[in-house]
Amino acid sequence: MKFKRNIIITGGAGFIGSHVVRLFVNKYPDYRVINVDKLTYAGNLANLKDVEDATNYTFVKADICDFDTMFALMGQYNVDGIIHLAAESHVDRSIKDPFTFARTNVMGTLSLLQAAKLYWESLPEGYAGKRFYHISTDEVYGALELTRPDGEPPYGDEFFVETTKYNPHSPYSASKASSDHFVRAFHDTYGMPTIVTNCSNNYGPYQFPEKLIPLFINNIRNRKPLPVYGKGENVRDWLYVIDHARAIDVIFHNGKDAETYNIGGFNEWKNIDLIKVIVKTVDRLLGNPEGSSLDLITYVTDRAGHDLRYAIDSSKLKKELGWEPSLQFEEGIEKTVGWYLDNQEWMDNITTGDYEKYYEEMYKGR
Ligand code: NAD
Ligand code: DAU
Repeated sequence: MKFKRNIIITGGAGFIGSHVVRLFVNKYPDYRVINVDKLTYAGNLANLKDVEDATNYTFVKADICDFDTMFALMGQYNVDGIIHLAAESHVDRSIKDPFTFARTNVMGTLSLLQAAKLYWESLPEGYAGKRFYHISTDEVYGALELTRPDGEPPYGDEFFVETTKYNPHSPYSASKASSDHFVRAFHDTYGMPTIVTNCSNNYGPYQFPEKLIPLFINNIRNRKPLPVYGKGENVRDWLYVIDHARAIDVIFHNGKDAETYNIGGFNEWKNIDLIKVIVKTVDRLLGNPEGSSLDLITYVTDRAGHDLRYAIDSSKLKKELGWEPSLQFEEGIEKTVGWYLDNQEWMDNITTGDYEKYYEEMYKGR
């Protein structure tokens, strides 16, 4: 079958990638969607059970750092678009093991860029009709102040905009910042049609349970402590993952080359307030007495270099491409908690065995 477009999505077996793959496979039956994923601890093909047999879906187990394989895939599938999500994504792991983050996030992105460059430049039409879309994070901008810590959000007067200077603090955000620079350098140096987007914290189904929201839902269900870093006063800006996938769709198709777009929900929460909402929702859905799991909250040693506040201004994306979040946070968190409680087998398959040991090691001494 001849497809209208042939798109590689890297990291499609991960949290956000699986939602992007699902959206593209279902919405564009005339596109071939090639999911390239190494299946690290964070990659899980169970996230894609519902699309794995689709005729326009192909899975390739490969490491983006493997330049020869990346280059071969470009030609094998006549790739004209790349949506690049594959990365090491967890800040706490980057503090313990920064090399893995530099390898995948920096060298892996470079390997993919160079493979696309050599392939596209070998074609008669060159870069015409091609797109390299790199998914990045708001963490590259650094941290904002809490100038209005009390009362209603927003908790500060400043927001990250597309022109905010990069100022990453963690090995994770430093590696993502570096990869963003490489992507822009490939546009400026070789004329590759690139786009970078920087998104805030995502939440929703299929997130690996080392991240705050699924970890805490699972710990409440199992009556385990909820480790709040520091005083729980750090602020994050939360976006439902399917709204991120919708934004990626709009930007992949209608975004302008060489542009940067911020993606976020104008939805700031102090960690401790968010945690209380999670506790309340899980208790209600499990039929526990209200507030009965609040005693699981345990304040632990803060994350090293813990960024205080992230807050994204996504008005450029709304103004230029008409995207805005479709879901209110109250609805999103209700759906999310419900999904994890209804999919305990998915969770238990991850949290037993090696991961259990890793988790215990991670919290030793906190
Ligand atoms: P994730 O950790 O859930 O998934 C990452 C995926 O990449 C996994 O499937 C993993 O197997 C794959 N992968 C890792 N190294 C690879 C390699 N060398 N080769 C091929 N595949 C590899 O991550 P996520 O939370 O879904 O994040 C996806 C992307 O979005 C990342 O680039 C991240 O920086 C960015 N991002 C995440 C968030 C968030 O809140 N989760 C917010 C903004 C941006
Ligand atoms: O902002 C976008 C980023 O959001 C993405 O680029 C990252 O890939 C993604 O992991 C996420 O980073 P965070 O560090 O903000 O997410 P995490 O879920 O790890 O933590 C959210 C907040 O909760 C943060 O302030 C740290 C705190 N926290 C986290 C964990 C896991 C706790 O207090 N206790 C915990 O056990």
